[in-house]
Amino acid sequence: MTELHTAAVPAPGRLFGVSLGPGDPGLITRRAWALLERADAVWTYPVRSLRKESYALDIALRGGLALPAQHQPLLFPMTHDVEKLARHWLKAAETVKALLATGQDVLFLVEGDASTYASFCYLARVLRELDAEARIDIVPGVTSFNAACARLQLPLSEQDDTIAIVPAAYGIAAVEKMLDDFDTLVLMKVKPLLDDLIDLLARRGLLAHSRFIEKAGSPVERIVHDVAELKGTQVNYLSLLLVKNPGRVRGDMQRGCRKKTSTEIEEETLG
Ligand SMILES: C[S@@+](CC[C@H](N)C(=O)[O-])C[C@H]1O[C@@H](n2cnc3c(N)ncnc32)[C@H](O)[C@@H]1O
Repeated sequence: MTELHTAAVPAPGRLFGVSLGPGDPGLITRRAWALLERADAVWTYPVRSLRKESYALDIALRGGLALPAQHQPLLFPMTHDVEKLARHWLKAAETVKALLATGQDVLFLVEGDASTYASFCYLARVLRELDAEARIDIVPGVTSFNAACARLQLPLSEQDDTIAIVPAAYGIAAVEKMLDDFDTLVLMKVKPLLDDLIDLLARRGLLAHSRFIEKAGSPVERIVHDVAELKGTQVNYLSLLLVKNPGRVRGDMQRGCRKKTSTEIEEETLG
């Protein structure tokens, strides 16, 4: 009589979006660090081309973490071609799904924070489309603009300030409109539009209130205080502009939503 052996199918692993902060390994959270120290998990990380290094992987390695036995780059090309993007997101999600099916946990290394303009968002979405039961965890982290404010020693917001975080690709007209409503503008992905942005800031008298930072927190970080000097130069994709807008005309504040001024308290007491 033949004996029937049914191989035990392992329970699928879990995908973790592991935020590493924008460049300084000292900004990796304890939770992310603990996951990255696990020797049994698979590391995956985004690359723009298979010939390029991964910025996210470099942060972990510079921190002194050891590359585990199993690790794999996932290709997320820089393109606006929607079909090409969808093809690569699907391929990345299929690769992760196959790794999870072996029972191993998969860590996807993310530069900055995993919920902020990160390829992890696409990966997680497509994986869920492939497998609604997929278990996914996100470890939050320090964003590029929070780290940039710290490096530049500029507050992101004070008291009643409004903040806009905007990919500059919306164009100059859109950015200019936002100057009416926001006290701080964080302009992300500025590379292709930098010269036009500098012209806008000059026209609005905001150059003195603007700062540029590239690869914040990394060993090749570059901070530029006089943003006008960047005109006509090439900058790295990992760069942003922080614009403070001190002359903005603010509307009335809702009473009761902020601390009363001493004059208001006096007026109330006097009836
Ligand atoms: C795809 S988004 C990634 C955002 C990232 N997940 C975060 O939490 O900040 C890429 C854009 O973020 C900004 N960025 C990311 N890392 C940066 C860094 N280390 N220094 C300056 N800007 C950075 C740049 O504007 C860049 O074009």
